[in-house]
Amino acid sequence: MISFLTIFILGIGLIGLQISISTTDYLTTQQRHDMLRQARNINSSIIENSEVTSELLQTIEKLGSFSSYNIWLIDTGGRIVAASTMQDEFVGEIMSDSLMEDLLNGRNSIQIMEIDEEERPMLSVAVPWTSEGIIHGGIILHSPIAGIKSTVRNIREIVLWSILGGLLIVSILVSYLSWTISKPLRKVEEAANEIALGNYSKRVNHHLPDEVGALVQSFNRMAAKLNEIEKQRDSTEQRRKDFIANISHELRTPLTAMKGFLEVLQEGFVKDPKLQQKYYNIMFRETEYLNQLVDDLMDLIKLEQKEISMHLKKVDIAEIIKVVSLQLNPTFIKRNNKLQSFTLEPLPYIIGDSLRIEQILTNIIHNANKFTSNGTITVKTKVQNDCLCVIVTDTGIGIPSHDLDRIWDRFFKVDRDRTKNGRGTGLGLAIVKELVKLHKGNIHVESKLGQGSTFTISFPIYNYDTLYNS
Ligand SMILES: Nc1ncnc2c1ncn2[C@@H]1O[C@H](COP(=O)(O)OP(=O)(O)O)[C@@H](O)[C@H]1O
Ligand SMILES: [Mg+2]
Repeated sequence: MISFLTIFILGIGLIGLQISISTTDYLTTQQRHDMLRQARNINSSIIENSEVTSELLQTIEKLGSFSSYNIWLIDTGGRIVAASTMQDEFVGEIMSDSLMEDLLNGRNSIQIMEIDEEERPMLSVAVPWTSEGIIHGGIILHSPIAGIKSTVRNIREIVLWSILGGLLIVSILVSYLSWTISKPLRKVEEAANEIALGNYSKRVNHHLPDEVGALVQSFNRMAAKLNEIEKQRDSTEQRRKDFIANISHELRTPLTAMKGFLEVLQEGFVKDPKLQQKYYNIMFRETEYLNQLVDDLMDLIKLEQKEISMHLKKVDIAEIIKVVSLQLNPTFIKRNNKLQSFTLEPLPYIIGDSLRIEQILTNIIHNANKFTSNGTITVKTKVQNDCLCVIVTDTGIGIPSHDLDRIWDRFFKVDRDRTKNGRGTGLGLAIVKELVKLHKGNIHVESKLGQGSTFTISFPIYNYDTLYNS
């Protein structure tokens, strides 16, 4: 506001000064020309007279009454010989030598004079009094400068009032302007403070299409982004906590069981060797489970930290399916399942890490066997666009539709009872999903409760370019 006002006052002040200076100049010049013209006219009116006669005095007096200037007539000696009305007292006075020198040399003279009897400064114009080339003296016209001065004073007054009026208007305008700018800015400041205190949902309400509006919109976008980040951080934190709670639970269950059986065996309460053997078997299964859990956890953490190194090359998937089927064969027999695989046609190679692909297929086929009994597990392959799909179908218990999305979550098991026959860690599919992602592949499931499930995994087909350009 102060800078606005300073600029305004300086601007108007300078313009006012300029106007008053040029007006003074203009008026003075105008008056000077007018006086010179009149003086010359007087000279022509008295051209007949070469000396002071009563007739001349009368003429001067008459001319003086028509003119707005005082008229003095001086002789070659510089003495005032005649004056217009009311100027008689000056008759007889002697004018300065310098003036006389100018006049006698035929030059006009223009001066600002201070006359003792007059308080106001006078503008005086003197021209030689000549006839037929002879100089008889001079004609002096003078008039107070007051007229000019008061005109200029009026102008200054007008300028001053304009400044005052302008100041008022500018003050109001500037206050309004700074209010419209500072109000939303203050709102932004308040919102920023609230956000700093953790209230990320705070937004500023200001929708004008000006610079402040743009600033407010950017601010709101930033706040929204912060809010999103904060929410994400919260959920990551929650996931981490859940993860640790799950790990503790999964570790504690087998450990507690083992501790119980060990105590019973240690105390010697169980004498029956068959029962003892049963307890040892249970304890062995628990250690196996713990082993599996630790392995899965290590895999998952490595995947999460992106520490798993993939050795991508062209892979023959039919070969891997064969190996996995062979390895899992004993478990199929145990659950009285039949495995059918149809991979006879010549298959294109895919891009991948063969060990990881083996891990993926083992997990899926193992699950199919685990959740099926007296049934059939089918492994098929299919080429679709640029991908090779492996389709694993079982005729087992299936997955309830509301759990279909959750089976990929860490530690998720549809329900604990259904896995009595070989319990799992609930980490298998979470690992599979990550591994498939690393292969730039895709996995999805279709299932009907009580009828079976189909897992379809697709891998990009090998092609020299995709392997080396990706
Ligand atoms: N083929 C399947 N048939 C039925 N349910 C399945 C099948 N595959 C996975 N599931 C369900 O998804 C859950 C998660 O599977 P997974 O992550 O491999 O854990 P785990 O096998 O250790 O239980 C399983 O507990 C099971 O309930
Ligand atoms: Mg599993």
